[in-house]
Amino acid sequence: MCGIVGYVGRPKSLEVLLGGLRRLEYRGYDSAGVAIITEEGELVTRKRAGKLQVLVDDLAAEPLTDGSTGIGHTRWATHGGPTDVNAHPHLSRDGKLALIHNGIIENFAELRAELLADGYTFESETDTEVAAKLLGREYEAGGGLAAALGRVVVRLEGAFTLLALHRDEPLVVVGARRNSPLVIGLGDGENFLGSDVAAFVEHTQRAVAIGQDQIVTITPDSVLVTDFFGTRVIPSEFQVSWDASAAEKGGWSSFMAKEISEQPEAVANTLRTRIHHDRIELPELAGLEEALTDIDRIVIIACGTASYAGMLGKYALEKWARIPVEVQLSHEFRYSEPVLTPRTLVVSISQSGETMDTLMAVKYAIEAGAATLSICNTQGATIARESDAVIYTHAGPEVAVASTKAFVAQIAALYLFGLHLARVRGTLSAPAIAEALEELSGIPAKLEQVLLTSTRIQELAKWMSDSRAVLFLGRHVGYPVALEGALKLKELAYIHAEGFAAGELKHGPIALIEPGQPVFVIVPSPRDPNSLHAKVVSNIQEIRARGARILAVAEQGDAAVLPFADEVIPIPLAGALFEPLLAVVPLQIFAMELATAKGLDVDQPRNLAKSVTVE
Ligand code: AGP
Repeated sequence: MCGIVGYVGRPKSLEVLLGGLRRLEYRGYDSAGVAIITEEGELVTRKRAGKLQVLVDDLAAEPLTDGSTGIGHTRWATHGGPTDVNAHPHLSRDGKLALIHNGIIENFAELRAELLADGYTFESETDTEVAAKLLGREYEAGGGLAAALGRVVVRLEGAFTLLALHRDEPLVVVGARRNSPLVIGLGDGENFLGSDVAAFVEHTQRAVAIGQDQIVTITPDSVLVTDFFGTRVIPSEFQVSWDASAAEKGGWSSFMAKEISEQPEAVANTLRTRIHHDRIELPELAGLEEALTDIDRIVIIACGTASYAGMLGKYALEKWARIPVEVQLSHEFRYSEPVLTPRTLVVSISQSGETMDTLMAVKYAIEAGAATLSICNTQGATIARESDAVIYTHAGPEVAVASTKAFVAQIAALYLFGLHLARVRGTLSAPAIAEALEELSGIPAKLEQVLLTSTRIQELAKWMSDSRAVLFLGRHVGYPVALEGALKLKELAYIHAEGFAAGELKHGPIALIEPGQPVFVIVPSPRDPNSLHAKVVSNIQEIRARGARILAVAEQGDAAVLPFADEVIPIPLAGALFEPLLAVVPLQIFAMELATAKGLDVDQPRNLAKSVTVE
């Protein structure tokens, strides 16, 4: 989950590297460093623990000579704490080669022992330094940097993106990837490498995704991609739809605030070109169309927020397509010895498309012969490319580590897929599909309305900033919303928060209720045919009788809640399956405002990374 940038072209590497790292910092940010080959042919490096700004300040105080070739890295520590010594880049023994790395080299201990026996010494605790020393030794064996890298990577086990440069090849940067992201940016007289397109989008929107077990060599005027054994590969180019400003804050106080406000657009863009009156167009499913007529079960795999979107997808898919759906956490899935057949469709949900737990689960499903579909927000991401088909959410770059707009876009994409599958399987009439599509198309406007209620939530958050524990209750489709609301509060405000199925309360958790305990309740519509509304209102009465402070997220005009709630946060009327897209927004805002009231960084919360690319 580190940020990686490579550049060859003009003598402005430092500007390119630091700008790219700034955009990638959300991927991991406990140390940062750069390595540059100067115009005089010297290899210079600087690296510092702490956020990127610490490195930037250090470079301002003690400038580094610039050059036309460079690599840069922001780190989320895996092997070895966030210290100057453990920061990347790491050097070969002779100091002429620098290397940076994203991922985990699982057999680094045996490789380190081999090098120690060969007289090498190490200054850091990292697996990356082992790779750097190994590459330096291979470079001495001849054949050039790319060939040396090929001989090294075939010996590595685990997940890695490596970038390296060598003083004796001044206008060359090489890279290699396995189970970890790497994309090429194509420029004019300059070329770029990055963990994702945000690394270079301000310079070029022409990109090339590098495939599994491939090596890339860039110079100012050439890009060469091969497999690990030197056989040439012709990768496909794609146009990045983001522009540089989209990855900036655009005047908002934080990326989190900006991205919460972009949710109407995120849903609208995800639906755009895919709904035509009462028809759904998902041409990206072409590779799966035959399988979709034959599947008899769906397994949804995801982590964190994405898994809560998956729980909502289950309700919709089972209701509309009448097919059994199971939701599994990716990191549990492949160790549970799941029963998968060619008639199983495994749907992975991932904003980054690089989450290692989900990627490895997708690979497991592919190995087991299941059909695979990815719901992903990052073009060209590894999980998307590994799957039989991908439905991209078009939420735009989600920079804040805690996910918001990607979540609502994932639900919209899942609902589109559910209605498409219902049509393919003939389980829903055309009028019913048209009605659901109309409801889905109306969500962006309703999200705009919900965003207008943020002032009252801001006041509530300030009042509750000293809360030590907050509970979230929801029933049916409100339960995943309760889980997501609790996760947002944990992630952003570092407050213990727990989401419960409201019906579960009396089976134990109600013991947690004490006077003044804040409890958010996601209240179903009073129009709900299963009378869940009445059941949840009685749940509210149960906890109110024990002194809880009730904050109810309820449908506008729901009078039954008023007598029992201390606060009612209204949301527009929507069908039961569609209310979660609206009910989650006040909870996102609450978590952000409470974290802000506590003076916390809502974009880069402690201990977290935007894309968890280690298992
Ligand atoms: C969400 O707020 C968290 N940052 C985290 O739970 C995230 O949703 C999870 O790590 C999955 O990430 P992905 O969607 O990129 O796979």
